[in-house]
Amino acid sequence: MTSETTTPALLREAALVGGRWQASGEDGIAVHNPATGVMIGRVPSLGAAEVAEAIARATEAQKDWAARGARVRAAVLKAWHAEVLAHRDELAAILTAEQGKPLAEAAGEIDYGASYIEWYAEEARRVGGEMLAPLEPGKRMMTLKQPIGVVAAITPWNFPCAMVTRKLAPALASGCAVLLKPASQTPFTAIALALLAERAGLPSGLLSVLTGPAREIGGALTAAPEIRKLSFTGSTEVGSALYAQSAPGIKKLSLELGGNAPVIVFDDCDLDAAVEGTMQAKFRNGGQTCVCANRIFVQSGIYDAFRDRLTTRVKALKLGDGAEPGAEIGPMIDMAAVRKVLEHVDDAVSLGARLETGGTRASELGAHFVTPALLSGVTPEMAVFREETFGPVAPLLRFDSFDEAIRLANDTPFGLASYVFSRDMARILGAMEALEFGMVGVNTGLISAAEAPFGGVKMSGLGREGGREGIEDYLETKYVCLGGLEAAPC
Ligand code: SIN
Repeated sequence: MTSETTTPALLREAALVGGRWQASGEDGIAVHNPATGVMIGRVPSLGAAEVAEAIARATEAQKDWAARGARVRAAVLKAWHAEVLAHRDELAAILTAEQGKPLAEAAGEIDYGASYIEWYAEEARRVGGEMLAPLEPGKRMMTLKQPIGVVAAITPWNFPCAMVTRKLAPALASGCAVLLKPASQTPFTAIALALLAERAGLPSGLLSVLTGPAREIGGALTAAPEIRKLSFTGSTEVGSALYAQSAPGIKKLSLELGGNAPVIVFDDCDLDAAVEGTMQAKFRNGGQTCVCANRIFVQSGIYDAFRDRLTTRVKALKLGDGAEPGAEIGPMIDMAAVRKVLEHVDDAVSLGARLETGGTRASELGAHFVTPALLSGVTPEMAVFREETFGPVAPLLRFDSFDEAIRLANDTPFGLASYVFSRDMARILGAMEALEFGMVGVNTGLISAAEAPFGGVKMSGLGREGGREGIEDYLETKYVCLGGLEAAPC
């Protein structure tokens, strides 16, 4: 059925519904390689009936899973982690085929995704409540941590592995069951991960992977009273709609939404390190991450030197099919993404920015390829400043003072990631504290790690994923007041 010449064994054209694999027919949703346009395969188009079936099985399976204890859960997650690493290359090939990022970056994402499984396998055994200080004789107060129950996870196309494991691993470690709705553009990595989880001993029915139309499945998940929590990564627009849909049922929510990340390059920085860090912050996954640099503020004293060095680096980037050796920037995910990049470049140029390089279609490579761009002389009126481009466009703005840089950086309704380059501790501390963002990278363009809390403020979302905080989002705190303990004075 698949049209690609080589089909990895883990590429399964089926959804997992409450422990039952449901194969796709010819009427399933076709998934295409964004680099070549070739169809990779199909997944079933499920709806409310399958969501109900998955919820019924998950409700039973969750109780048993929670009762098995943290040691068993940790062992299953460790086995899953080992399975994922053992199939790293195969998973990376599937990920590149459906998402487009270069193969080396895809393999890096498999490692990154696996690190969440490992971290939460370890954290499973560290969940615990506390005994509070006795207030009066004969009474004790304590807190218990309990899994929230059956949860839903809706994941994006830009990280088809890591965004899945970042939600599934803490949910499963804490004793929850999960209904996962992967992005329709990139379902095969999620399906392969579920297959490996099954092989690792994850009980049947505990995890479902529900492919199909986002609106219908999202609607069924938010309407179901059995689903106690929803974790979503994606656009602020969709996150806000899911928030509203979840309100009548008072569901707990984790939302990891859009960003508009500033990079502030102060004139005392190590220039080479700042250029490299900005390249990493801007061009990872072709600019298609929520933490990608979207506005690069450079202090006047080094503006020209920074622009020239960055332009040289951007011009040298190799654009190509992610499966081709040496490719550093893959295709955009779809035509809408291509259009947005081109519109942002045109808008900036029409308002006075200078296009130093790139920003054109590379049609000889395929419909979704755009050459990496650098714009100088950008101003706050331009769309590149106000909106997340989600593509390979680096917009440069000049600033003079610390206060001006912070004011411009915070001039956005979003607050996910931010970056600062400086060698002056006072400047670094001042910026760390003044930036209204959930994450700050100092002298680095790569900040994501399983051990650290990832998340935003303002319109970038709610809650944190990763780190110690990540498992808390899947737990309820129950307070118990024990009285009548006459034999236990304070
Ligand atoms: C994202 O773009 O949503 C995730 C990026 C990351 O985990 O670094």
